[in-house]
Amino acid sequence: MDTIECDVLVIGSGGAGARAAIEANESGANVLIVSKTLEGKAHTVMAEGGINAALAHRDPNDSIEEHFRDTVEEGVFLNDQIMAELLARETPDRVYDLEGYGAVFDRIGERIAQRPFGGQSHPRTCYVGDSTGHEMIMTLVEEARRRCIAYHSEVFVTKLLKDRSGSICGAFGLDFRTGTYKLYRAKAVVLATGGAGRVFKVTSNPHEASGDGYAIAMRAGATLQDMEQTQFHPTGMVYPASARGILVTEAIRGEGGVLLNKDGERFMSRYNPDQMELSPRDQVARAIYTEIQEGRGTEMGGVYLDITHKGKEHIMEKLPRMVKQFEKFANVDITETPMLVAPTAHHFMGGVKVDPYTCESQDISGLFVCGETAAGVHGANRLGGNALAETQVFGKRAGEAAARHALGRGMPECDEEDARREIERLEAPFESDGERPQALIGRLQEVMWKHAGIVRSEALLEEGLKAVGEIESQPVRVVKGRRFNLEWIDFIELRNMTLVSRAVMMSALARRESRGAHFRSDHPKRNDAIGLVNIMSRLKDGEITMDSRPVTITKLKPVLRRGDA
Ligand code: FUM
Repeated sequence: MDTIECDVLVIGSGGAGARAAIEANESGANVLIVSKTLEGKAHTVMAEGGINAALAHRDPNDSIEEHFRDTVEEGVFLNDQIMAELLARETPDRVYDLEGYGAVFDRIGERIAQRPFGGQSHPRTCYVGDSTGHEMIMTLVEEARRRCIAYHSEVFVTKLLKDRSGSICGAFGLDFRTGTYKLYRAKAVVLATGGAGRVFKVTSNPHEASGDGYAIAMRAGATLQDMEQTQFHPTGMVYPASARGILVTEAIRGEGGVLLNKDGERFMSRYNPDQMELSPRDQVARAIYTEIQEGRGTEMGGVYLDITHKGKEHIMEKLPRMVKQFEKFANVDITETPMLVAPTAHHFMGGVKVDPYTCESQDISGLFVCGETAAGVHGANRLGGNALAETQVFGKRAGEAAARHALGRGMPECDEEDARREIERLEAPFESDGERPQALIGRLQEVMWKHAGIVRSEALLEEGLKAVGEIESQPVRVVKGRRFNLEWIDFIELRNMTLVSRAVMMSALARRESRGAHFRSDHPKRNDAIGLVNIMSRLKDGEITMDSRPVTITKLKPVLRRGDA
């Protein structure tokens, strides 16, 4: 077991992790990034259409206040309003930071261009064609390299370590290239491992998004918040099967794309005639789902997204990635033929409960959490374009606070016994007889899609929880061998995915109303009398316990959204 020391350990190298590392380095800390993937491979790339910032370049009536209001209204008032306000206030500067690091945003004249996105009162999404996340992550990776920030890739952190006082003292991981273990000792840890889209059968997320951050934080004693709030992006690819779920960016609708059912009807006029295709994501996803369920979808189980009327030149200029994606995977020319689309699991609004200003976990001193791994800012429904904004605003805040926590402190003591117990847990499947992890992951994804998908109910969730329990209790065996044993990685991910799935289902059962992305057919209405609470889940002696707390409402009193019955 190698032991490595640093001031600030950043786990995860997507937009939030990279931004946190840069800021901790800027504050004078010795920083190390550790990541399960290769540099630059992150779900950040899948926020294609842009980053929201109230620059008011395209519409002078836009403002910080309007961005805050849209964020909270679209979050159906479940947001931490302090976090929503910080997001709106600080994103413009974070966009200019990115420019300073070298990102090249599309422009109109001298100024950064902006496009409309769903649920916005003004067009405020800054973009780089339809590759905004990609441009951002490449820029951040370059900036981290320029600062010589140390980077360990293909190391799977499986446990957070705490000292005797319960404060963070580091983390333990498996370097799966060599099959050896690494013990990281750190004065502060930033957790930014993204979400858990892969618990669902159909997802826009990369393979790595198995909820590792939620699971290791929960096992270390952190509280998770609002895990029932899982966002289904309205438009993922439907065909071919191997491409199912791949993101079809909201920028297509932002550039004028329209949704049609199999009869050629522009059906959004029946769901939200004011905002049509640019209605909030939860409304568009449910509308598409309903069209398909009620027999107005296509034979392949989707609806059409048509942008052909905008002309080849415009499409090639604004959506080049989509043109290539459909050409490569489906042999479809989107400048001439409508796309087939259906909802895909995209983003977790829930996550680790943190302090809104510092991103420190409320339960574990020295643990800072940001990006999709943290809860609070998006409430029950995230605005498209706010994920990239969140990575930059709260990545910076987490990195700054982690450095402040670390500097001037001695290196805490970690108990090596904790690491040894973790090794026993990790190596158990080498000696076991049982099912292969990949088969169990497949079963779990089916269960989550059917029982905790776009439409939920008590009966579905109860049945789903039972099925998850059965999957969890199966002994698992993996092929022997330490170096690059991907079946071993599947085993570790399976354990994380079942824990996160349980938290999602139990939180979904606890929310006995419909709000934002969480829709219950047995409680189809929003109910402010019982629903203005955050649902909390914690792990105690292997069992998840539930609790709820009133939402932080600082400014904006709840009102009904357009398009909500
Ligand atoms: O559709 C998109 O380009 C996704 C953006 C986002 O999730 O923020």
